Amino acid sequence: MKFFIDTANLDQIKEAQSLGILDGVTTNPSLMAKEGITGQENILQHYVDICNIVDGDVSAEVISTDFEGMVREGEALAALHDQIVIKLPMIKDGVKACKYFSSKGIKTNVTLVFSAGQALLAAKAGATYVSPFIGRLDDISTDGLHLISEIRHIYDNYGFDTEILAASVRHTMHVIDCAKIGADVMTGPLSSIVGLLKHPLTDSGLAQFLADYQKGN
Ligand code: E4P
Repeated sequence: MKFFIDTANLDQIKEAQSLGILDGVTTNPSLMAKEGITGQENILQHYVDICNIVDGDVSAEVISTDFEGMVREGEALAALHDQIVIKLPMIKDGVKACKYFSSKGIKTNVTLVFSAGQALLAAKAGATYVSPFIGRLDDISTDGLHLISEIRHIYDNYGFDTEILAASVRHTMHVIDCAKIGADVMTGPLSSIVGLLKHPLTDSGLAQFLADYQKGN
């Protein structure tokens, strides 16, 4: 299972990278705005900065909603760095743009996916990644993890190569449940990654080992 961090915060990306378990980064326009990154030039530079920190794929989202605009923006983003993955919204022109980029061998991430049918379309269009948003489904009393199971089932039926990128992960249990279901990738905040470290028995066990060592030395 690949671990992506879902942020545009460089310190948090560096922290996750320093653990040695980070496989990539996802961003979106809201995450960029949260870090105060505005203006086309600054946004493009920020993507390059992120690519220079991590080794894996970095999703950069287009803001156009028409096919021509998505192609124009996507090509500019892809030219920035070979780790860039073009993130496209699950709308009609996004599916067309996904097919366009996948035919050219450019990696894509189809985002804002909330149903199995949308995930099927993304796979048909050759998406590298499909991003079902589990946390936002949970927010409206719909089982986000069930969607991951449905997509896993459908993709396995037909051997689609599209990787299931469980997005809108909010906490450690989402990560563990996605791993049980067989999501290929998860993307979440730093807390959902480092939270996996925590267990009180690890802390008390270590404290005991250290205390016993001190007694004998
Ligand atoms: C996915 O790539 C999105 O950036 C993200 O996971 C959305 O998460 P949120 O629902 O916590 O905003």
